[in-house]
Amino acid sequence: MGTAVERFDDKARETFESVGRTEVFPGELLRHKVYTRFLHWMVALFFFLALFSGFGIYLPWLFRWFTPIFGGGALSRVMHPWFGLAFVFFFALQTLNWLTPMKWTPADSRWMRNIKNAVTGAEKLEPPDTGFFNAGQKAQFWEIVIGCIAFLITGIILWIGAGTFGRITVAVSYVLHDIFALIMLGGIFIHIYLSTIGEPGTFQSMTRGAVSEAWAWTFHPAWYKQVTGRDPRQAHDEALNRMRSARKNP
Ligand code: HEM
Repeated sequence: MGTAVERFDDKARETFESVGRTEVFPGELLRHKVYTRFLHWMVALFFFLALFSGFGIYLPWLFRWFTPIFGGGALSRVMHPWFGLAFVFFFALQTLNWLTPMKWTPADSRWMRNIKNAVTGAEKLEPPDTGFFNAGQKAQFWEIVIGCIAFLITGIILWIGAGTFGRITVAVSYVLHDIFALIMLGGIFIHIYLSTIGEPGTFQSMTRGAVSEAWAWTFHPAWYKQVTGRDPRQAHDEALNRMRSARKNP
């Protein structure tokens, strides 16, 4: 099972890399290959299409002005489940692609116990055992996996309707569908903030695919050590000293 998934991912990564391009300049590290970036932006596109078409169905009196984007209220209702299915499909592929780096480790449990440091920014560098993804990213990833399963089950019940599933099942599905959508939306706001202005230098990992070494030793020190063989704290201190002496002797 594991090897079949790995073979599938390797083949997909190889195919996408032959079509797209990832340029890594000196002083940078490869973060996300073309396949990962493609899946990520497909997920984001269909997430927002499903969200905006869903808003018009959820609260028409408030969000009626969204529906013309999809050709009117009736068409929004027709398109919404297809946008949702596309979102779940691409996220399922991303789940297979990220199964290994998203595995929970004891370092993640320690990160969660010290989450206050991450939120308040008390420490400039992430804890030294923070790997490719930190525990916050992993928690959000698994929350989206659970959300996708919930959307799929409740969405199919709502799509087929009360004639097959009964009115109570449909009513419960409605509530669960909306609760999961609101939870995911809240998480995505935080995600977009952290991936852009919250942690500068992160956004380019999903556009060009590469990040600066300084970004890597700041936010993912254990990953930095794994790919460069260098000590992240020492690399940070050396860079700081270089900067200070450049300022003194311009
Ligand atoms: C337009 C809005 C978005 C922006 C700017 C954005 C940006 C990014 C960036 C830069 C990363 C790489 C982080 C890293 O390498 O450490 C990332 C990762 C990720 N993105 Fe997005 N993203 C957006 C929308 C979404 C949406 C809608 C979803 C899913 C519903 C999503 C799910 C994820 C997941 C699961 C990861 C990996 C873990 C993480 O970094 O949190 N993203 N995103």
